[in-house]
Amino acid sequence: MDQFFDDIWRGLKASPKYLQSKYFYDEAGDAIFMEIMECPEYYLTNCEREIFSNQSNELANTILNHFHEFDVAELGAGDATKTVYLLEALAKHKADFTYYPIDISANIITRLNKQLPGIITGIRVHGLNGEYFAMLEELKRMSAKNKLVLFLGSSIGNIPLAETAGFFSALKAHLMPGDLLLTGFDLKKDPKIILDAYNDKAGVTRRFNLNLLKRINNTLDADFDLSQFEHCPAYSDETGECKSYLQSLKNQIVRIGTAGRIDFKEGEQIYMEISQKYSVQQTDEIAEAAGFTVVRHFYDSKKWFLDALWQYR
Ligand code: AVJ
Repeated sequence: MDQFFDDIWRGLKASPKYLQSKYFYDEAGDAIFMEIMECPEYYLTNCEREIFSNQSNELANTILNHFHEFDVAELGAGDATKTVYLLEALAKHKADFTYYPIDISANIITRLNKQLPGIITGIRVHGLNGEYFAMLEELKRMSAKNKLVLFLGSSIGNIPLAETAGFFSALKAHLMPGDLLLTGFDLKKDPKIILDAYNDKAGVTRRFNLNLLKRINNTLDADFDLSQFEHCPAYSDETGECKSYLQSLKNQIVRIGTAGRIDFKEGEQIYMEISQKYSVQQTDEIAEAAGFTVVRHFYDSKKWFLDALWQYR
C-alpha cells in the first residue's frame, strides 16, 4: 500500500510524468484486460492461441526430447487457456510433470487449482500466489526437478528492450542448467496493425489506462477527472516501441490525498506503458546475451507472434 503511494507519487512528480503498468492489474483492471483479449484488434492472444492449438504436439515432443520428469512453472498464468493445450499434449505423451502456475492474483491461483483437474484428468496442479522470482525460489525448495518455464503473451514487452537480457539473466539465477524457457514475443509488423491493437474502436484499452487513475482516486483519495485525460498510444517501427500515454485535455491541478497537488499543462502526457515489439533476430540476440541457447521457434501462420523455446546453458 505504501509502496503503491510511493511509486505513484514519484511518477507523478517526475518530469516527464509516468506511472508503472504493473499497477493496471487491480480487480477491475484484470477484468478489463480480459476484455482487451477479446477485442478484434488485439491480435496477440489469437496468434498465440493458434500456436498452442496447432503446435502443442510438436512443442510437447521438443520438450520431451530434453526431459521426461519435470516441473512446468508459468509466470503470470492468468486463466491458462493457451497453456491447457500444451498441458493436454504433455499428458497425452505420458510426461511426468506438475504444473505450478505463478500469479500475484490469489483469485487466479484459487481458480486454477480448482478447475484444472476437471479439464485434464490426473494433472497435478500446485498454484503459487506471489511475485515471479520469490515463487520460483519457493518452488526450488519444494522440488529439485528440471523446469520448463512459460512466460507467454509478450508480457516481456512491458520491460524496456535495454533491460530485457538483464531480466532473463536474473531469471536464470532461479533455474538450473538444462532448464527450458518458452517466451512469447510480439513481432514487428505493419505499424497500423500494432497501433490498432492498442487503440481499439470500442475503447477498452482507453478504459484500461484510465482505470489506473480511478484506482489512484479510490485508494489514495485523489481527484483525477477521468473525462479530462485522453488515451494516446504511439508506435515507432524504428525502435519497435509501442507506448501508451494519458494526455491532459486542459491545464488542471489534481490532488493526491493529503500528500499534495500535481500540476498538468494542457497536452502534457503521463507515460503509462511500453509494449515492445521485436524482430526475430533481436530475440535471438537477447537469448545469447542472457546465456540461453535457442532451441526452436514456434510461429503462428501469419508470423505475427513468436513463442521461442530457449535452454539455459
Ligand atoms: C499483458 C503486457 C502483454 O502489452 O500487449 C494490452 C498489456 N496493454 N493492451 C500488452 C496491454 C494494453 C499487454 N501485456
